Amino acid sequence: MAAQPPISNLIQLVLHSRAAIPRACAQLTCNNHPQLFRRALQTTSVSHNTPDFAFAFDIDGVLLRSSDPLPRAHKALSYLQSHRIPFILLTNGGGKHESERVAELSKKLEVPLDTSMFVQSHTPFADLEEYKDKTVLVVGGDGDKCRKVAERYGYRTIVTPGDILTAYPDTWPFSQQFLPHHASFSRPLPRPINAHNPADSLKIDAIFVYNDPRDWGLDIQVLVDVLLSHRGILGTLSPKNNSPDLPNRGFQQDSQPPLFFSNPDLVWAAKHHLPRLGQGGFREALEGTWAALTGGPRMGVQLLKTVIGKPFRMTYEFAERRLVAHRRDLLGWREQAGLRTVYMVGDNPESDIRGANTYESPAGTEWVSVLVRTGVHQEGQDPVWRPRMEVGDVYDAVRWAVEQSKWKGGRLED
Ligand code: G3P
Ligand code: MG
Repeated sequence: MAAQPPISNLIQLVLHSRAAIPRACAQLTCNNHPQLFRRALQTTSVSHNTPDFAFAFDIDGVLLRSSDPLPRAHKALSYLQSHRIPFILLTNGGGKHESERVAELSKKLEVPLDTSMFVQSHTPFADLEEYKDKTVLVVGGDGDKCRKVAERYGYRTIVTPGDILTAYPDTWPFSQQFLPHHASFSRPLPRPINAHNPADSLKIDAIFVYNDPRDWGLDIQVLVDVLLSHRGILGTLSPKNNSPDLPNRGFQQDSQPPLFFSNPDLVWAAKHHLPRLGQGGFREALEGTWAALTGGPRMGVQLLKTVIGKPFRMTYEFAERRLVAHRRDLLGWREQAGLRTVYMVGDNPESDIRGANTYESPAGTEWVSVLVRTGVHQEGQDPVWRPRMEVGDVYDAVRWAVEQSKWKGGRLED
């Protein structure tokens, strides 16, 4: 094997000519100098245009208003792509499979996107293996699109409130005029509802609210029926309900199914010039009904539930893992230079800004919140959750962040 040049020469080589990097680093490795390899790598990568920062973009109110792209969204994202600065889309929206939504967004924003850089409110439900061979109730979304998403996540037995209403129209007397609508996408129940023979009756093992419900009345009635039931068996009532000697006054103490919400947003930025009620509004309506039925907090009764989505930690941890993996794919070995900062660009102080401000990354990455004025938050409003920076729109956000990061890789034109 040819004589190896002294180590110092290799480092010099790396510092002065990019093309030489792979060869030099290979040499360093074959010289069994992993520490030097890493140092050389980091020296080169940090100093030569490897971004130690990345972005997480909210969608509604930042990139889109309902289904229309916001004016400078394309320009902002294509700048980042042309400079290989990693970013993901992190939305509390959902209701379609990630691949479908990404294809739509790529077309609308005219920027190639991939599911590896995309997190919706219900994406983490895909990891809940323990419920995939159980009977789950899926609530929300258009028609039975959310059922189809859950099927693609691997859930095998899925029931919707529309299936229950179609099979038992008396379940909710006030949706009779919507029966044909529900019937158009409902499926036969895996089991009948038989209050006289609970052992043979439909039993729900978990409840997932995937997206903003459309028929609040029906959905609230069905959820209340399941949560007051004995062990999730529809048509039954739990004997433990309203037992003063039990925790939560006996409510949800009889192996009723766990209740998951994917998105806490009370309001969101749609086409209307004022914010519209979201999944959080539906949850508040359910909580109000539950309190009226059970006595509520004044009687020591809560609605026991799990809520994910921004601002909650589980969603930010999930998003960070996805961003780090995407960054590795994008930057390859240059990814060694650690991810120092993630700029979270959002329009909703309660979800985007609160989430980034309160999230402590296990990797020590700093999440910096940037609030835009193209969605829920408007100029002159004083948000409860203060962003690190407030700007007009997403392009201003990217320009500010790139300047903050002292990025030498190319200025953003005005
Ligand atoms: O239903 C979607 C809405 O709650 C907000 O979505 O993209 O602003 O997080 P996004
Ligand atoms: Mg938003």
